[in-house]
This record gives sequence, C-alpha cells and structure tokens, in this order.
Amino acid sequence: MTPLGIGIVGCGNVAGKYASDSKTYAELRLAAATDLDLARATAFAREHGCRVHPSLEDLLADQAVDIVVNLTVHQAHYEVTRRALEAGKHVYSEKPLALTAAEARELVELAHARGLRLGGSPATFMGEAQQTAAAVIRSGRLGTIRAVYAEVNWGRIETWHPAPAPFFRVGVMVDVGVYPLTLVTAMLGPARAVRAWGFELKPDRVTTSGAPFRIGSPDLIVAVVELADGTVMRLTTSFYVGRPAKLTGMVEFHGDLGSLAIDSFQNFDATVEAGAYGERYETVPPVRPPYAGAAWARGVAEMAAAIHERRPHRATGDRAAHVTEILDGVAASIRDAGRRVEIRSTVAVPAPMPWATGAVS
Ligand SMILES: NC(=O)c1ccc[n+]([C@@H]2O[C@H](COP(=O)([O-])OP(=O)(O)OC[C@H]3O[C@@H](n4cnc5c(N)ncnc54)[C@H](O)[C@@H]3O)[C@@H](O)[C@H]2O)c1
Repeated sequence: MTPLGIGIVGCGNVAGKYASDSKTYAELRLAAATDLDLARATAFAREHGCRVHPSLEDLLADQAVDIVVNLTVHQAHYEVTRRALEAGKHVYSEKPLALTAAEARELVELAHARGLRLGGSPATFMGEAQQTAAAVIRSGRLGTIRAVYAEVNWGRIETWHPAPAPFFRVGVMVDVGVYPLTLVTAMLGPARAVRAWGFELKPDRVTTSGAPFRIGSPDLIVAVVELADGTVMRLTTSFYVGRPAKLTGMVEFHGDLGSLAIDSFQNFDATVEAGAYGERYETVPPVRPPYAGAAWARGVAEMAAAIHERRPHRATGDRAAHVTEILDGVAASIRDAGRRVEIRSTVAVPAPMPWATGAVS
C-alpha cells in the first residue's frame, strides 16, 4: 500500500504523540508540518523528520500532503479545516470539529460536496478495551441497557499545560466531555436530548509560569443525555476534581441483566469488567492484546485505510458534528437553567473493528 502523506497543522503539546504514533502505520507517512509559531514548527519537523512550511497556504500547496491533520487550538479548528478542504485535502481534525454545530455541519457538507474525507477525533472507540466493551454489549450479556454513568474528572489543567487558556475558554465539556459522548454514542447510537447544569467552583487559577487568570467557564458540569433508544446517560465533567479521585474516566453501562465498567474512556488498555445484576464484576479479557495508553493516530490511519479500500471510515465528520450538536445543547441548557434541549442530527453506530467481531468471553 502506498502510504498517504499527512501534514500536521499545529505543532503543540499533542502533535508529538500523533507524529510518533503515525510512524507505526503502513498507511501513513509524515510529510510536513506548520504552525503559527515557525520556530516551533521547525523544531518539530527536525525532531520528527518532515518538511516544514512557513504557512498553512504553503502546506496546502504541498503535493505530498494528502491528509491535513488539524492539531491547532480549538478556536482555529473550523477555519483550518475549511481552508484545507477548499484546497482539496482530506482532513482529520482534533476535537471539537468546530465550536458550533452549524459550523461543524458546514464542514461535513463541504467535504461531501468536494468528495473528500473528513474525520474527527476522538477515535478512542477504536481502542482494544473500548472494542471489547462494545462486543460485550453486542453479545446481549447486559440485556437492554437503560442507564450509563460517565465520569471525566480531569483535574486542574493549568497545573501541567503551559497554555491552558484555550481549554478553559471552550470549557470542560467541549474539551473532555466529548470523549464519553463520542464513545457512548458510537456504542449505543445517537442522542435525542440533553439537559445540563454548570458551576464555577474555583474561578481563580494560576498558570505554571505564575500568571493569575480567571477560568471564565464552569469547571463542573453535570449533563443528562437521553439517547434515541431511551437510554439515559449521566455525564459529569470537571476541571476541578482530579486524581486522587477514584473515578477519573470511568464509564459504566447498566442493563436489565448486568453491568459493564470500563475504567478509562481513553486508554486502549483500560480494564473492562462485567457482571450479572446483583453479582460482582469480573474482568473481561481484551479481544486482542491492547495498545498501552492511547494510539493517537489510529483514527487517521483507519481513515487512510478506508480511502485505499474505498469504504467508509469510522471516525467520521458526521459523528463529530453530531457530538458538536450535543455540546451546543449542553451550553444552551446551562444558560437556561437545565432546560431540555432536543438534538436533531443523528448518526449510525460504526462497524466493529475487523479484529473485534468474534465472541467475547
Ligand atoms: N494536549 C493534549 O494532551 C491533548 C489531548 C487530546 C487532544 N488534544 C487536542 O489537540 C488540540 C491541540 O492541543 P495542544 O495541547 O497540542 O495545544 P497547544 O496549545 O499545545 O498547541 C496548539 C498549536 O497550534 C498552533 N496554532 C494555533 N492556531 C493555529 C493556526 N491557525 N494555524 C497553525 N497553527 C496554529 C499553536 O501555535 C500551537 O503551537 C486541541 O484541540 C486539543 O483539544 C490535546
């Protein structure tokens, strides 16, 4: 297979993880990088062995770039993705696809009109643990699932990220609530409504370089998401509560016959446990030996393979746009004291990964 060339836009904190992981797939070749900060892009290109471009325009003119991987800050995603699609490149974007559902939908339609692929993070539902959990659910062992509890107690981001402002500007639900929202809707189907409540528990923070700032968005959000099949998901997200909290990224599915817990929505080697109603949890062996941690470029590689094989990819822009509409709904509900906000878009459950279609024990 001729690998597809990827061009990374935004060479910050997460870009190195994408670059290192991308080298492990036959489908991908790291071709080029750019950043508003040229010195950062130059250092990144030197470290990872690719071309550096002084601007997005130059990267988009590079014939070796087939897929633009958009790793810019949240606020720049829409603009960078739109320009890349208009230049005829496939795009895989970090989350969120855009800051509003309308902009996300516009990108989906633009990609469709141009015959290009649009992919969106997170692709963590492609992890071994997450595929194992999905296989247990498909097996019917839990019976009809009626409740999902999800925790994202992600802690105080300013204590480790050198540039925390964009994360607080979009808020905790947009930055990390997006993970369980994507995972659960990829496993059980789309959402039909949401209600949410937000609180600013600790508004005054200090950056790692000692600068005081106000967070300006709720650091605790509790959302209740109704799925189209009637399942109710309670999702808690916090940029205040973090380790040593017992539950930092746990998602639990509760059905008529039993429950399933996955102790990280993100790590592909998370522990998956299942048990019959009223009994104890027992560990479920993974469907194949898991990747340790999160394989950041798996969604990009899966999209590249789908382009080669002329089949649909799994982490679609459509899925990311549906999740963006839920995020919009959360914000609208918080502004309106927990009003029920309907979600109008819908999205199909993706096919299991080919290595996860067998029986689970
Ligand atoms: N840091 C993580 O661990 C992590 C994990 C998962 C997802 N993400 C996502 O990845 C994205 C980037 O996060 P990060 O932590 O790497 O942020 P970062 O601030 O460390 O890096 C972002 C980079 O994008 C560049 N940039 C901003 N606007 C640009 C534009 N218009 N054109 C070119 N470059 C531009 C910035 O100069 C910066 O170097 C975010 O959307 C975030 O949600 C980050």
